Amino acid sequence: MLDILYNRRSTRKFLNQKIEEEKIKKLLIAALLAPSSRGLRPWEFIVVDDPSLLEKLAISKPHGSLLLNHASLAIIIAGDKTKSDVWIEDCSIATIFIQLEAEALGLGSCWVQINRRYYNDDITANEYIHEQFNIPERLEVLSIVGIGYKAAETPPLTDLDVDWDKVSFNKFGSLYVKE
Ligand SMILES: Cc1cc2nc3c(=O)[nH]c(=O)nc-3n(C[C@H](O)[C@H](O)[C@H](O)COP(=O)(O)O)c2cc1C
Repeated sequence: MLDILYNRRSTRKFLNQKIEEEKIKKLLIAALLAPSSRGLRPWEFIVVDDPSLLEKLAISKPHGSLLLNHASLAIIIAGDKTKSDVWIEDCSIATIFIQLEAEALGLGSCWVQINRRYYNDDITANEYIHEQFNIPERLEVLSIVGIGYKAAETPPLTDLDVDWDKVSFNKFGSLYVKE
């Protein structure tokens, strides 16, 4: 597991190579096995591989979504706000499960934030995606994961990224220092 965590880096440049059906299925199994508050599983996933739809997703917001133009696949993660008051937490866990399974399958991925982001001055990124994909009102789009074969390797995280200063022991500020 730690190998996957060290190696997972955000990938924003992808090869023009299709992802095998079996791998797509495994990405979705990972999402559907994620834990959720009270086991309510308040999520919905929309799998997108049509290049014209990926282009639409790529302009969901002014910055940080263009990578979807080059991805082979995008998974939209939406939460049902009528089912759970903690849909954001539940959908975040499902999002990262997809990213970790992508790494395990030798794929690159990147989280594209949609919740609380704007398409333009007038409408939110969530509203824009609702319109494009005919999504029911009860759902809120949290994120999109762009996925594909990596066009370049980003160096993995190292032990220098393991910031032990962020960890206290028994009381706040009493550092848990590990060499
Ligand atoms: C909640 C969240 C939102 C993010 N939103 C975006 C985004 O909209 N666009 C993007 O290119 N990267 C996005 N990222 C990726 C981060 O920029 C990236 O994880 C961070 O810079 C650390 O780099 P690494 O993933 O390579 O370790 C997001 C990551 C998280 C966890």
